[in-house]
Amino acid sequence: MRPQLKKFIDTIGKDSIAIIPAAHEKTRSYDTEYKFRQDSDFWYLTGFPEPDAIAIITPGKRTKYTMFVRPRDPLMETWYGRREGIEGAKENYGVQKALSVEKFEKEIGKLLDGHEKLYYRFGVDSDLDKLILDYLSNQRFRRLKTAYPPHTIIDPTIIIHEMRLHKTEEEVELMQTSADIAAEAHVLAMKKIKPGMNEFQVEALMEAYMRDKGASGVAYNSIVGGGENATILHYVENNADLKNGDLILIDAGAEYEGYASDITRTFPVNGKFSKAQREVYDVVLETQKACVEATKTGTTIKQRQDLSIEMLTEGMKKLGLLKGATKTLIKNKKYEKYYMHGVGHYIGMDVHDAGRYFTDQEAKESRPFEPGMVLTVEPGIYVPADDKSAPEKYRGIGIRIEDDVLVTEDGNRNLTTKVPKEAEEIEQLMNGGRSKARRASK
Ligand code: GLY
Ligand code: MN
Ligand code: MN
Repeated sequence: MRPQLKKFIDTIGKDSIAIIPAAHEKTRSYDTEYKFRQDSDFWYLTGFPEPDAIAIITPGKRTKYTMFVRPRDPLMETWYGRREGIEGAKENYGVQKALSVEKFEKEIGKLLDGHEKLYYRFGVDSDLDKLILDYLSNQRFRRLKTAYPPHTIIDPTIIIHEMRLHKTEEEVELMQTSADIAAEAHVLAMKKIKPGMNEFQVEALMEAYMRDKGASGVAYNSIVGGGENATILHYVENNADLKNGDLILIDAGAEYEGYASDITRTFPVNGKFSKAQREVYDVVLETQKACVEATKTGTTIKQRQDLSIEMLTEGMKKLGLLKGATKTLIKNKKYEKYYMHGVGHYIGMDVHDAGRYFTDQEAKESRPFEPGMVLTVEPGIYVPADDKSAPEKYRGIGIRIEDDVLVTEDGNRNLTTKVPKEAEEIEQLMNGGRSKARRASK
């Protein structure tokens, strides 16, 4: 049994039952499916990789860990792939009792009865919601004369997400591999990009690299935006030609053994920053480095966000994008015209990972960083191409720099240092180690 499942069993207590469903396959078009991705909570607790399974956790019983799984079926397996089946679930995943998922509906009453609390998250799997609700309402109709279903329903993610937020050493190791693969893919892009290439060619070479290194794929749709496409935060068309003199913004991460990385770099298509590009770049880089530094035990999420806002607002003033007193500009959120997103988020099995950002949801008390959390650091400045109020030389420039940072007892560890972010280092890398060369003129 996985240590995280053991901890979950110990936490929910003996008078409880938890029902944790796996994900289902999803139709992409007509009779083709998206590549299957397991539900992160289910995967975290069980490690079981198949769709349609349902884990039943009953800490007060002798059999604490039951799983309903797809049964072995030679015909289905010939068409659609191997299944662990009942034996595989027990032998390979530490399940104490395994049953065919086809039996779940019949068994649900027996499972639920006799437990005080039900840990189940409504609103994710509507078919399962209905089965559970139907059973509960039928029992109420019978006024509990013959059955004793749970009377308290609790969302298990209150516990699971808090566990997922604090990464174990094993998880950090997987996240480091995911980060290394993505960082190397970014380095490859820096080495290969030249004017005239299309954004999709850059996307293709990075994603091929990730798969080649054992990633299951990307952690989210890659953003590869040349020129003013970089000012669109979630630009994913990735189909424009890259122009000499433009910047390219690449936001791409890998998924490795279920763990995401999330890296952004912005650099010149021709291997040399122009003076104007460099001016904006330096503002973002300086802010990013200060916010990486601030990602340490004790600093709160809000303090780090405020730091990014303050530094970027100062920078925008220096660039002539904003005018006025910094305090007033911040109070009136004037920076949002050029910096409209948060400075970072938790990352783990999901790129925008589980975990609360507040210690007190009512008071919105910002949460301090704690060892084991992994967060991105990703400030940016995006100057719309048609922004008449901005100095002309900056119009259409979009810059974001993003790293993934683990909070440790005595500071932090940046997981994504394998890809450079200092402007000179990037230029050197792009020019095969020579600092002054300009590839476009070669
Ligand atoms: N790539 C998504 C993000 O940076 O949050
Ligand atoms: Mn990103
Ligand atoms: Mn991010």
